[in-house]
Amino acid sequence: VDPSTRPFALSARTTEALAKYIEAGKAKKIVVLTGAGISTSAGIPDFRSPETGLYANLERLNLPHPEAVFELSFFRENPLPFYTLAQELYPGKYRPTITHSFINLLHQKGLLLKVFSQNIDCLEREAGVPGDKIIEAHGSFADQACIDCKKSYPKDQMLAHIENKTVPRCVDSSCNGLVKPKIVFFGEQLPSEFFDNRHLLDEADLCIVLGTSLSVHPFASLPGFVNESVPRLLINMEQVGNLGSRPDDVLILKDCDAGIKELASALGWSDELESLWAGT
Ligand code: APR
Repeated sequence: VDPSTRPFALSARTTEALAKYIEAGKAKKIVVLTGAGISTSAGIPDFRSPETGLYANLERLNLPHPEAVFELSFFRENPLPFYTLAQELYPGKYRPTITHSFINLLHQKGLLLKVFSQNIDCLEREAGVPGDKIIEAHGSFADQACIDCKKSYPKDQMLAHIENKTVPRCVDSSCNGLVKPKIVFFGEQLPSEFFDNRHLLDEADLCIVLGTSLSVHPFASLPGFVNESVPRLLINMEQVGNLGSRPDDVLILKDCDAGIKELASALGWSDELESLWAGT
């Protein structure tokens, strides 16, 4: 490899070569992209895994098609399936995984530029990653509002409805619109901070993609924004997107937690990572 033409080049497309790259101090602005696959070992099903995915298990809610549970038009017609699911998905019942802790370790080492998450489980935050380092691209349960007049809705009343699987209605009785957590439904705009921070992908000197099928746009387009000369690492059960198509793409096609432990071990960070995770 000619270092003058490709300063970010890896000596090989392996975990070891990537660890050397990080140890050489070449990765100081790491952008991490996460999906539901990093929370499955915490007990939260992902969406599209054939047997265990949420979409394969929503028959019991007799939806016209699985994604309807996150579609505004269907929600207006019948909000109950979403609220049934919301109780199961609501944050606070699950512990972050060692993969979430690895992202916090990158932050603690001053190497994390930003993590863009598609997840609504807030586990990156619960693992200790500061809020200003996280872009919740598909929103979260943190806030809720009326879908008609947009008036915000009290958190404590929302929690009560989630617990009882009942449907909250607008605080303004003359509106009486349906209330929904600020989770991005299909067809809804992503938060502006997603677009405001997308340029960071081009500033990154390493992009790490974890546990996502990269099947939902515009999030799925993010890996394409990474500078051509910068390495990209995918840790996922299956190859997704165009990861693997560039000379410095590294693919670890296995369980996220196992892949993360492999990378941590190559970096000599195993003990730090284990004790960080033990503290969550
Ligand atoms: N280790 C590694 N990979 C895993 C693991 C695991 N333990 N568990 C699942 N995966 C992989 C699956 O093989 C799949 O490629 O993670 C990916 C999960 O893909 P999806 O279920 O589609 O989840 P995600 O990519 O986050 O979905 C994106 O779709 O429904 C919308 O808004 C929702 O944010 C979600 C978006």
